[in-house]
Amino acid sequence: MYTTGVTAPQGTWWKPAHKAERVWFTIAFVWCLVLFAMMPLWHLRGGQNPSGIRARVAPADYIARVRQFVADYGTGESEAGIPIVAPPPGAEVYLLAAQFQWTPILQLQQGAEYTLHLSSLDVNHGFNLYPFNVNFQVVPGYDYGLRVTPTEAGDYRIVCNEFCGVGHHLMVGRVIVDASDASGVAVAQAAGADR
Ligand code: CUA
Repeated sequence: MYTTGVTAPQGTWWKPAHKAERVWFTIAFVWCLVLFAMMPLWHLRGGQNPSGIRARVAPADYIARVRQFVADYGTGESEAGIPIVAPPPGAEVYLLAAQFQWTPILQLQQGAEYTLHLSSLDVNHGFNLYPFNVNFQVVPGYDYGLRVTPTEAGDYRIVCNEFCGVGHHLMVGRVIVDASDASGVAVAQAAGADR
């Protein structure tokens, strides 16, 4: 025997659910509500899921912001020709994702607060600050601003964790966090020669 789309289905789904099924459905539904409530709770109490600042921006306008940022605070270039930028504490910091590069290299100070802006030139990219559990979508057409305070000095990599094309695995950026002394003044980083 075969059935077609206009034939009533065989089964008992229109009869009242079994008691066990109702119990499991209730458990699953309550758990859904718990997980739903966790999203704002993580934001308010856990310091996760930051809401950030969002605004639409045309890619060309965002590139202009990045260029201005490099012009204002640029300190040099890496061997690969990527600008290195050392913004002062409190600055607006602009990072551009494009197939398959992060621009510029950021040099920040430990303990200082910045507003980090993320946007993409072309497709979706993923901002992952290795080795920390920091993940953000980088979306073309949107400027996503995050208030960040680097807490640990070091030389970190930005790994793209959103598949963005054939060079996805090569898309590695860099964030340098210079150590501060107790008064909050940046201490010159000794190991800066290979930038
Ligand atoms: Cu950019 Cu993957």
